[in-house]
Amino acid sequence: MADKKRETFGSKLGIIMATAGSALGLGNIYRFPCEAGANGGAAFLMVYLALALLIGTPLMISEFVIGRRSRSNPVGAFKRLSGARSAWPVVGYLGVVCAFLILAFYTTVAGWTLGYLGKSVAGHFGGQDLEAIQQQFSDFTNHPWLPVACQLAFLALTAVVVMRGVKDGIERWSKILMPMLLVIMVVLCVKSLTLSGAGEGLRFFFKPDFSKITGRVVLSALGQSFFSLSIGMGALITYGSYIGRRDNMVSSAVGVALADTLVAVLAGVVIFPAAFSFGIQPEAGAALAFTTLPMVFQQMTGGYFFCLIFFLLLVIATLTSTISLLEVIVAALTEELRLPRRKAALVGAAGTAAIGVLATLSFRTGSPLHIGASTVFDLLDHLTALYMMPIGGLLIVLFVGWKMKRADVMAELTNEGTLRAGLRKGILFIVRYLAPVAIAVIFFSQLLM
Ligand code: PFF
Repeated sequence: MADKKRETFGSKLGIIMATAGSALGLGNIYRFPCEAGANGGAAFLMVYLALALLIGTPLMISEFVIGRRSRSNPVGAFKRLSGARSAWPVVGYLGVVCAFLILAFYTTVAGWTLGYLGKSVAGHFGGQDLEAIQQQFSDFTNHPWLPVACQLAFLALTAVVVMRGVKDGIERWSKILMPMLLVIMVVLCVKSLTLSGAGEGLRFFFKPDFSKITGRVVLSALGQSFFSLSIGMGALITYGSYIGRRDNMVSSAVGVALADTLVAVLAGVVIFPAAFSFGIQPEAGAALAFTTLPMVFQQMTGGYFFCLIFFLLLVIATLTSTISLLEVIVAALTEELRLPRRKAALVGAAGTAAIGVLATLSFRTGSPLHIGASTVFDLLDHLTALYMMPIGGLLIVLFVGWKMKRADVMAELTNEGTLRAGLRKGILFIVRYLAPVAIAVIFFSQLLM
């Protein structure tokens, strides 16, 4: 009965676009360069590519299997597929908590993109040298209320879209704007590659020094691949639950994983050559993207407009990701606690705001919002990407590989036998053996060190 009322995406393109909307965001353009820069550049890239394609994509497909089979939010999904008495629904709760924690610090940077959109409209970057642009970043993140106001505005925007529901909100936005983002990234690459001294940045990003690959680098790459593909915490279980019976979720997942990886690599090709050319450290962390990109625009003919369009698209790409995070919370609250959608969106956004504001304020110089040496922001980032998502991902592949009936999993993968089984058996093999062993080894070897 409940199935009848549940919305589904309107088309295969709808699932791809909504999932791509969730996957593409700050993880690609802000976090990926940040992590690659701090973890040895090309060495990180190689490990990242291997993990995203070999482990990440099968995990994406596993989440779709759970979602579509159960037609439920992450908590309900494990209840339905394993029985209410089992311990598996804990994985669903873990996912909802993870979505909430990610949303809290993700909206910090989301707020910055809104602030930087404002700055591009006002033309704040024109004619500025590197020092001035670095100062602008530091002034903005240190401002007592502006970044908080931007964060709250972003959350409000997210809540409004989520209140309107899956099809009207999420699908429509993603379809038009994601392809535009890809185009502007390519334009930026061309500019970045023609800057003087770009070669050094390219070598940093593409010429691996394998001695740089440590256990920590591998765990960071695993965390980044999960973060970037929105996996390991139930976002794609939630979206999987909206996929129509006849849609091909394997090819959709592969398409999204490739697009997501392409955009991350493009972001690296924009940022590293430019950063080396301007003399910005690749380890600059949070400031890397927000200082390098305005510098690139400034060197371009028509830079004012490119900058404006870029930040506008970045805001939208970010919004389609925050929507998917809030949707996890809202789907769980509406289906498990029977809250009306509007109320669930408000409760989710308000709860996120309470913690998120602390993450934003923790960036201020001298802020007491530190635990040990880390800011609240870094703490939430590490807790989710390095701990919760790998554990969540491990449990999800174990569930699909070993707890669900093999026939049910194959029925989902092949749309009840109407699609070819060959390749899909290979995917199931990875889900059963390779993925759990790889995730467990990477995660536990780091934990024990
Ligand atoms: N994948 C998003 C990005 O790369 O920006 C971040 C994200 C969105 C993570 C949704 C998790 C999630 F559920």
